[in-house]
Amino acid sequence: MKLGIFDSGLGGLLIAAAISRHLPDIDTVYFGDTLHVPYGNRSLDAIYSYSKTAMDFLFDQDCALIIVACNTVSASALRRLQQEYLPQKAPDRRILGVVVPTLETAIDRGYKNLGVIATNHIVQSGIYEQELQKLDPSIRIHHKATPLLVPLIENDGLKWAPPILEEYLSPLTQKQIECLILGCTHYPFLKKQIADISGPSVDLLSQDEIIPEKLADYLRRHPEISSKLDRHGQKKFFASDMTESYAKAANTIYGKQIEIQRINLHE
Ligand code: DGL
Repeated sequence: MKLGIFDSGLGGLLIAAAISRHLPDIDTVYFGDTLHVPYGNRSLDAIYSYSKTAMDFLFDQDCALIIVACNTVSASALRRLQQEYLPQKAPDRRILGVVVPTLETAIDRGYKNLGVIATNHIVQSGIYEQELQKLDPSIRIHHKATPLLVPLIENDGLKWAPPILEEYLSPLTQKQIECLILGCTHYPFLKKQIADISGPSVDLLSQDEIIPEKLADYLRRHPEISSKLDRHGQKKFFASDMTESYAKAANTIYGKQIEIQRINLHE
């Protein structure tokens, strides 16, 4: 069986590439819902419905475990997928998100005062606060919605980022945060610009650096899932819409030439 990786679009390829470097043998299937990206502006019902379709597809591809690389889905649909969809559809399989592992890493590293930047949807959901409350209520977390960052990254507008980041990050740095969670698949592309503005006293937590090790740890603790995964190093990539520019972006994000198959799940 395979490891599935799901994102609203192609940003999750960054996490897929990091997983592939860390666990090169595991057979993986990536699905990016490029037909509906960005999910950040969609209703909760739409995000749940698109995510269910994606889960159906990845389970049909024989995935035993699916990593939801998308923070928006992790924030707004994951709990329903785990509690309503999975028990009915595939009780012996697993779906994991990225929010809890990110917070666990922050806690393990001893931070007491966190910042998180994310899309409007994620901030409004309060998911980071809710999960942190369960994990360690003594830790403080401050958030800032940064809705202009995904459009900037998607439209090759990184050169416009510094003044926008100054504006976004100043309320967080004023709160003397020790670490800043980049709570969106796309934000690792801005790591350098963010680090320049947040300064050396703020450590960046970037999910492409966190999730592979957390996944390896999960597999060590769950031999019943780990033992089901094929290890031939096969990587397959699917997207619900494909254009030449998507294909180019995919190669850049993944860091090498990949073949993405277009799959229409909505006909
Ligand atoms: N993948 C999304 C996330 O991590 C960002 C893009 C979108 O809004 O779909 O939240």
